[in-house]
Amino acid sequence: MKPESRWIPLCKVDDPIAPHGNALEVEGRPVALFMVDGCRYATSNICTHQLALMTDGYVEGAFVDCPMHQGRFHIPTGAPQGRPVTKPLRTYALRIEGDTVLIDMTEPLPSDTPEQEPVHCPRP
Ligand code: FES
Repeated sequence: MKPESRWIPLCKVDDPIAPHGNALEVEGRPVALFMVDGCRYATSNICTHQLALMTDGYVEGAFVDCPMHQGRFHIPTGAPQGRPVTKPLRTYALRIEGDTVLIDMTEPLPSDTPEQEPVHCPRP
């Protein structure tokens, strides 16, 4: 059975998002908030290869390159794009309520890990 969603305030709708993403912490977890084609996406801010912050990397379109070994991930899905990264970045669902962006901090089921849902929120 899927656990109930736990929606936590992440930021305000008007908060600017840096071109390389915003480094945020939610319940002690490092989260990266990106803007791709006018939509917000949230992923883990830690590379799945080694310990590097994705928001220290380089964003090009819908992809972010890790600053350490240039592993590339697709931001909307977290999918790795080739070596050295082989595991997806955790992605988080977002939604907007009023002027606040909420993030779903529900623990993923182990079976959810390999293939994650694309997450985005509607344009404000
Ligand atoms: S630490 Fe990210 S690609 Fe190696």
